[in-house]
Amino acid sequence: MKNNSINTLVRENILKLQPYISYRDHNEFMAPVLLDANESPFGEFNRYPDSTQKKLKTRLAELKNLSVSQIAVGNGSDELIDLIIKIFCEPKKDTILMMNPSFAMYGFYAAINENKVLKLNLDENFEMVKDDFLTMVKKEEQIKIFFLCSPNNPTGNSIEDIEFYLQNFNGIVVVDEAYIEFSGKKSSLELLEKYPNLIVLQTFSKAWGFAGARVGMAYASEEIISLINTIKAPYNVNILSQELILKTLDDETKLRQNVNSILAEREWLELQFQDIECISRIFPTDANFFLIKMKNADQVYGKMLDEEILTSRRDPAIPGCIRINVGNRNENEKLINLLKNIEQ
Ligand SMILES: Cc1ncc(COP(=O)(O)O)c(C=O)c1O
Repeated sequence: MKNNSINTLVRENILKLQPYISYRDHNEFMAPVLLDANESPFGEFNRYPDSTQKKLKTRLAELKNLSVSQIAVGNGSDELIDLIIKIFCEPKKDTILMMNPSFAMYGFYAAINENKVLKLNLDENFEMVKDDFLTMVKKEEQIKIFFLCSPNNPTGNSIEDIEFYLQNFNGIVVVDEAYIEFSGKKSSLELLEKYPNLIVLQTFSKAWGFAGARVGMAYASEEIISLINTIKAPYNVNILSQELILKTLDDETKLRQNVNSILAEREWLELQFQDIECISRIFPTDANFFLIKMKNADQVYGKMLDEEILTSRRDPAIPGCIRINVGNRNENEKLINLLKNIEQ
């Protein structure tokens, strides 16, 4: 797909929109007297944040070897999913395609925008079935976006051969890499140059440990990023989060340490799970969580709740399964001790 044909996928009303421009964020000259935005002259956080997130994007651009114009920053990647659907999907007309099972929010935001949600069932090992994909995109003309989550939530596995989906679909392919740092797999960022219909989502919520700061990124062609910037709320990422993440980016060692420690705990947990009677299958994971099939998911989930261990029940969508994320050693030991004592 050529860059200029992206516009043929965009809703007409969105193409006509002019972005909200904050004068101060788009000019080098910063007036010492700011009487333009009806702010208070008092207080530590009296000013609106930089609507263009210039410093943060400049640093991200360096780290990812991209240009600033290829980066959009959102209030978590959740916000970006919502915006991407709004840009390309005409309410009541267009459709999104997502893997099944996968991250529920794609369907949620599509439903809010009144778009149909088509689900592509994964096979018994949660792999994609390429023929099913081809049949689906040939049959359904109104599919504008394919959400491909890799590593996939809630199954944990990575999706192979992402280029196949980019080559065989004339719409937008969103590769959601929320868990990429745990996977040891290559990011799809390197495919951006080749595929103008690709959007890669990443987040600070998982490996970086800043779910509370709400910062996610979309990496894509300049054309797509400019559309996201046009429709986003001007001040979507607050000052505290922009500053916090900027500081964090200077300490990649900390990230590596945290990821390594989560990976070591993941390995430890996997070993412990082998000997637990109530578990019938542990699915392979590239993420910071496990999808586990229990012999009696109801009973196990209930027992964990009684001991104040909250996990994520996937029944009935994934029969008999519970998603459990890797915690610290204390939490993991508590979990294992409890599971060991569940009699079948
Ligand atoms: C696959 C996937 N994408 C996106 C998100 C949302 O991330 P954020 O916290 O950046 O909104 C999650 C959160 O669980 C996720 O699992």
